[in-house]
Amino acid sequence: MKAIILAGGSGTRLWPLSRTYFPKQFLKLNNMDKSIFQMSLERCLKLTGLAEIYIVTNNNYKYLVLGQIEELGYRFNENNILIEPSGKNTLPAIYYGVKEIQKFAEDIVAVFPSDHLIEDEHKFVHTVQKGQQLTNEYIITYGVRPSKPHTGYGYIKPKDPLSIGYQVDEFKEKPDHKTAVNYLEKGYLWNSGMFMFRTDIFEAEVRQYNQEVYEAFEVNDINKTYEMVSNISIDYGIMEKSQRIAVIPLEVKWSDLGSFDTFYDEFTGDEKGNITFGRDILIESSSNLLYTDEDKAVALIGVNDLIIVDEKDALLICKKEHSQKVKDVVNKLKEIN
Ligand code: GDD
Ligand code: MG
Repeated sequence: MKAIILAGGSGTRLWPLSRTYFPKQFLKLNNMDKSIFQMSLERCLKLTGLAEIYIVTNNNYKYLVLGQIEELGYRFNENNILIEPSGKNTLPAIYYGVKEIQKFAEDIVAVFPSDHLIEDEHKFVHTVQKGQQLTNEYIITYGVRPSKPHTGYGYIKPKDPLSIGYQVDEFKEKPDHKTAVNYLEKGYLWNSGMFMFRTDIFEAEVRQYNQEVYEAFEVNDINKTYEMVSNISIDYGIMEKSQRIAVIPLEVKWSDLGSFDTFYDEFTGDEKGNITFGRDILIESSSNLLYTDEDKAVALIGVNDLIIVDEKDALLICKKEHSQKVKDVVNKLKEIN
């Protein structure tokens, strides 16, 4: 079995923690001893060998990837780092990996993002491995039981049970809030963003539903391919369309550190639900996330549900409910610069 790790996202919803040249997957958050990328790689190594792993990223992150792997004590074959000329989202990134793997032989591939926190690794590895039983017929996604109507995830409606997992009746990427509330009532699962499939089956689905992506990758020049291909995620491009999707429930504590609201949920706050990292003083304030320098005293009086991230050259103050919009700041900054 091969594995593809996606490590090319820029994590704009976690600005200013996450920066274009140092995105969230490489951060050691809250002084953890490993970055989220390093943890993803180590999980992956419990499923397959180092030589079977392909990392899809871009030139800006190549040396972050290599450096962080070396820090773990491994030597990684640079040929297994696939450099995208530009970020075109997850479908081209995954298909790039698939095409490289196919150069050797058709194989089973597991795809992992590099922005997840997962507890209970043993169960995780066991569940992911089980997916191999279904790969002759299905593209498999791993489903997580939702805890709230989050609008940043894909939602999966399971249908008939299979030997393990279920056939998928419907896959809907990032629904609006009202729809998400409805899905929660109906027992939909969240898409964890991890997939498993056979390379030939995946190729057939790309060919059927994304002719343009298929053709772009028939061109033998990655720069031309990336000029031709449009920006599309696997979720919109394949998962919402394919008729051969199965879901295997993943019963582990899982979170995508995608935006500050999930970031907030990840840590335990004080009795008023405030999460702080520095020498902060909070008066009549609740449910705030304060990510500030340890040496800086920050005081809050009478404010609730705020995200405050104070970095040397940037300060974010945002209502928690607007966490998904932080990426708009990065877009604006790009316009200005
Ligand atoms: N190489 C590469 N190139 N990697 C990319 C690119 C790209 O252009 N874009 C994103 N990635 C990487 C990110 O670094 C991340 O590890 C992973 O692909 C997923 O991308 P996100 O941008 O984080 O996606 P998402 O979180 O909004 O949504 C996906 O994951 C959710 C669960 O975490 C979807 O699959 C949802 O359906 C799912 O619920
Ligand atoms: Mg994500």
